[in-house]
Amino acid sequence: MKKVLIVLFIIHFRFFAIAQLPLIPIPSIVNVSIDSFVLDKSTFVFSTDKKSFESKYLVEQLKIRTGFDLKFSDKKNKSAKHIYVHLNSNIETKTSSYNLSITKNNVNISAPNPEGIFYGIQTLLQLIGINKSNSIKIPCVEISDKPRYSWRGMHLDVSRHFFPKEFIKKYIDCIAMYKMNVFHWHLTDDQGWRIEIKKYPKLTEIGAWRKGSMVGAYADNKFDTIKYGGFYTQDDIREIVNYANLRHVTIVPEIEMPGHSLAALSSYPEYSCSGKTVDVGMSWGVENNVYCPSDETFQFLENVLTEVIDLFPSKYIHIGGDEVPKEEWVKSDLCKQIIKRENLKDEHELQSYFIRRIEKFVNSKGRQIIGWDEILEGGLAPNAAVMSWRGIDGGIAAAKQKHQVVMTPGGYCYFDHYQGNPQNEPLAIGGYTTVEKTYLYEPTPDTLTVDESTYILGAQGNVWTEYIATPEYVEYMSMPRMTALAEVLWSKKSDRNYNNFVRRLTQHFVLLDSLHISYARSIFELKTTVKAIDENNGLKLEISTPFDQSGIRYTVDGTLPELNSLKYTSPILIGKSQTIKAAYFENGILKGNPIERKFNFSLTTGKKIELKNPPSEYYKGDGAFTLVDGINGDQAKHGFNWLGWSGKDMEALIDLGKDESFSEINFQAVNKKESWIYLPKQILVYSSIDGINFTKIAILNADDIQKSEGKINIHFDKHESRFVKIVAECFGKIVEGMPGAGENAWLFIDEISIR
Ligand code: ACM
Repeated sequence: MKKVLIVLFIIHFRFFAIAQLPLIPIPSIVNVSIDSFVLDKSTFVFSTDKKSFESKYLVEQLKIRTGFDLKFSDKKNKSAKHIYVHLNSNIETKTSSYNLSITKNNVNISAPNPEGIFYGIQTLLQLIGINKSNSIKIPCVEISDKPRYSWRGMHLDVSRHFFPKEFIKKYIDCIAMYKMNVFHWHLTDDQGWRIEIKKYPKLTEIGAWRKGSMVGAYADNKFDTIKYGGFYTQDDIREIVNYANLRHVTIVPEIEMPGHSLAALSSYPEYSCSGKTVDVGMSWGVENNVYCPSDETFQFLENVLTEVIDLFPSKYIHIGGDEVPKEEWVKSDLCKQIIKRENLKDEHELQSYFIRRIEKFVNSKGRQIIGWDEILEGGLAPNAAVMSWRGIDGGIAAAKQKHQVVMTPGGYCYFDHYQGNPQNEPLAIGGYTTVEKTYLYEPTPDTLTVDESTYILGAQGNVWTEYIATPEYVEYMSMPRMTALAEVLWSKKSDRNYNNFVRRLTQHFVLLDSLHISYARSIFELKTTVKAIDENNGLKLEISTPFDQSGIRYTVDGTLPELNSLKYTSPILIGKSQTIKAAYFENGILKGNPIERKFNFSLTTGKKIELKNPPSEYYKGDGAFTLVDGINGDQAKHGFNWLGWSGKDMEALIDLGKDESFSEINFQAVNKKESWIYLPKQILVYSSIDGINFTKIAILNADDIQKSEGKINIHFDKHESRFVKIVAECFGKIVEGMPGAGENAWLFIDEISIR
C-alpha cells in the first residue's frame, strides 16, 4: 500500500511539476525531479562550436535575462558548473529535435543540428525567465522534444501599415522565442508596395506612398490627408533575411497577383487592362483594378520575382491569388483573346492560367509557389501549395489533390479579429477569435485520411493591419494568440490543455513585460453562457474563468464590480431586463477587463427556437438560442453574439410556449459589404397556433430593409398565436465590382424580439 502511495505521489508530483514549468510550447517528454541546478556568474558555457550563432545567442540572452556575463571554457572542466552545448548525431535526427538535460551539476543541450540547439536554448531560457538574483535555481529536468508540424508560421501585412526594420526583427524574435519557424511577409497590396525592386524604381517612388488613409471604421468612409508610406531597401531585406535565418525562421515573401495590385498599377498603369492612371489605394477592401494577363505584365512580374527570389532563399514564394474581381477582365478584348487562344472556359480559368504561368516561371528558378485558396478555382497549378483562409475547405480540397497545405482559417488564425469582448477592445476589423479558440484549433481536419493528412504542413497566424497602425498594437493583437498557436503547432495534441496553458502563459506575461513586448490580457476576461430555465422561466447566466472561480465578482445595478461586490457562486437568475457586470480578481487585484451582459426581455426571451439552416461553423454563437438569449449583438462588432450564415437563409421557428398577443417583431442584421455581409433580400413572418399550419402575417421588402440600416422593425395588427416563423432571405451571390464578387454573401442576425 505504502509503495502504491509513493508511486501515486511521484506520478502526481511529476504531472504537477510539468504543468508548473513555464514552458510554451509544452515539450514532448519531460521528467522533472525536485533537485535544481544553481546558475550563477561562475557558471561556464562549453560549446562544441563556440563561434556558432547559437552559442553566442545563449550567452547574450543569458546576460539580458540574468545579468550574468558567462564565459566560455575551452575544455570541460569537471570541477566547474557548465552549460554544455553540443551537436550530437546519436540522437534522433529529426529536424528541430533536441534534448535538454539539467542535473544538479550541469546543463546539457544536445541536438542533431543547430536548429535543435536553438530550440533547446529557448527552452532553457524559458525555464530561467527573467531573474536578476545572484544565484538562480533551475529545476532539474530531462526533456526530449520535437515539433509536430513543419510550418509554424506568423504573417504580417506591412502594406496597409508599414513597420520599421527594427520592429520586423523584434517580431522575428517573438516568432523564434516560441519555436515558430516561418515569417510570411505580406510585402505588396493595394495600399502600398514595400520592397525595393531595382528594375522598377517607381514601385517604391510612387507605389510605396498613399495620399491618405482611412480613419475609424470602414463604414464611416472617412479619410485623412496625411501622406503615408515607406519601404524596405534590398539591403534592409538582406539584413532581415539573415537575421531571421540565424534564428531558424524562414521568410516567405508575398508578392500579390493578379489582384491586390493597385500600388503596382499606380506606378506602372500599363500593366492593367485599362491602362488608366490610378492612385495608390487609400480605402481598405478589394479593388477592381488588377493586373492584365498580357505578355508585358508577365515580363514585369517575372523581373520582379527574379529580384525577390534572389533576396529570399525560401523554398516557397507566396504569389497571393486571393480576391480577384474579374470585372476588368470581362471588359477587356485582350482577355477575351487569351481565353480563346488558351481554350479557357471563362475568367476564372483565366485566373488559373495566370497562376500556372507564374508557377512555371517560379519553378524554373527552383522554387515553389504558395497562394491563397482562391488559386484552387479554375484548377490548381501543378506544384502549388495552398494557404486555406476562407475556412478549411480549400485546404481539405488541396490535400485531397495531394498538394501541400498551410491552414490559416479566419475563425481561428486571423489575429486581426477581436480577441476579447469587443466592448473592451480597440477597433478591429471584426470577428471574435479568443486565445482559447486559437488554442483549441486542430490544423489536421479529421475528414482527411492518414495519407492526405501528410499534406498539412502546419498553420499560421495572420496579422492584417488595416486597423493596426503601430508596432505595439501588432504585438497586442499577436500576443498571446501567437503563443497559443505555437503550442498547437509544436506540442503533441494529447499534451494540450487550455487551463494548464493559461497558467503557464501568465508566467510568460512577466517575461513579455521585461522584454517590452505588448500583449492582451483577455484570458482574464470572464466567459459567460446564457441558458434558458426550463425553456419558459427566464434565463440563467453562468460565468467562468480558467483560473480561480472564487475570484469572480459581479453587480446587478450597472456599477462596475469591485472586490466587495457580490461573489459569484452559482448561475445568476435573470427574470427581467437588467445589466450584469462581472470581473475576475486575483489576490485582491482586478485582472482583465470587466464584462457586461445587458438583457432585454421580450416574449421570445429564453423561448424554444429551432433553425432550419444551421449557422456557419465560424459564427454559430451558442446555436439558435443566441437569437433569443436576451442579449443584442453589437452592430459595430459582428463577430460576437451574432449568428452568421454564408449563402443561406435564416429560418427560425419560435415556440412562445402558449398563445401570446403581439404586434411587433424586431431583430438586427449587419450591413458591412466590405466584409461580404449583406442585409437580407426579403423578410417573411408567419404564425401558427399548432406549429403545423402557418399563415403569412408580414413581409418586408428589399427597399424597407435597406432603409432600416439593419434595425429591422416589423409592425402589424395585433395578432395572437403560439408559434412564429421568421424567414430572412440571404442576399445570395455578391455582384461584380463589390468585395467578394461571385462569393456567397453573409447574413448576420441577432436577437429576435417579439412584443
Ligand atoms: C485574405 O485574407 N484576403 C487572404
